[in-house]
Amino acid sequence: MTPTPIILDCDPGHDDAIALLLAIASPEVELIGVTTVAGNTTIDKTTNNALRILELGGRSDIPVYRGADKPFIRPQDIADHVHGESGLDGPDLPPPSTREQDLHAVDYLAQEIRARDGKVTLIPTGPLTNIALLFALHPDVRPERIVIMGGSIGEGNRTPAAEFNIWADPEAAQRVFLEGLDTTMVGLDVTHRALITDAHTERMRGAGRVGKVVAELMDFYARFHKSRYPDLAGSPMHDPVCVAHVIDPSLMTVLDAFIDVDCSGGPSWGRTNVDWRGREHFGDPNAKVGVDIDGDRFAELIVERISSLG
Ligand code: BDR
Ligand code: CA
Repeated sequence: MTPTPIILDCDPGHDDAIALLLAIASPEVELIGVTTVAGNTTIDKTTNNALRILELGGRSDIPVYRGADKPFIRPQDIADHVHGESGLDGPDLPPPSTREQDLHAVDYLAQEIRARDGKVTLIPTGPLTNIALLFALHPDVRPERIVIMGGSIGEGNRTPAAEFNIWADPEAAQRVFLEGLDTTMVGLDVTHRALITDAHTERMRGAGRVGKVVAELMDFYARFHKSRYPDLAGSPMHDPVCVAHVIDPSLMTVLDAFIDVDCSGGPSWGRTNVDWRGREHFGDPNAKVGVDIDGDRFAELIVERISSLG
């Protein structure tokens, strides 16, 4: 089977890092490039972190392109309360020995997607600034598929209404959802059932150098989730769910939906309004939305693939 070509547009970030490693470890997908965006931390740090993680996974040959340094309208904010000062606090990861490419992320995306006649699956796991800029600057560029980590049918995590990635740049997200492409939203409704427990972490800790670093990432990441989400049995692996969905679509149940982003600037700014019931006068489906996941099988995939990196 030919692997699906994917590009991760990310803001590492602990769960972005696991998404990158899952992609590297999985023969079903080919990670052809990585673009970075400001989100969990500044663009300098997300870019540096992407390079460090690719090096950890032995894939420094995969090119990294630096993207947008701030959202369209909302003042920039970061998630250091979740990911720490570096964006990847926990393990002692050395600085990268490689650097990013000279081309801007948005220009790279346009170039790569055109060169492949659109046959690329884009996986944005941070704010959607780069992707919205791509469509604004290069309207002819139509990736085959977009699988987005962001949003929620139910409650948010950055505010009661909004999930962090959409909250961080709502106007960009709105532009992407209304673009009319094959778009799948992987929101908190699913990722809060895609959990890594302490027992999973211990299995990875014993599985070589990469597993040990991932376990140390999980130790740090779990502290926040244990205190904010004591009702969850583990830490949500938000971003890896998107990669897992491309690897094995049977893991996650999806429904057609109309998805619209609240850009009002009020208390629900950045909320995804998701209609999968076909309510009148709302809108025809413009996306698919994840509504359920086999959490056990997902967690086994993570442990197995991370452990395979040695
Ligand atoms: C999303 O926000 C970030 O903190 C994570 O990396 C993930 O992409 C979850 O809301
Ligand atoms: Ca992320």
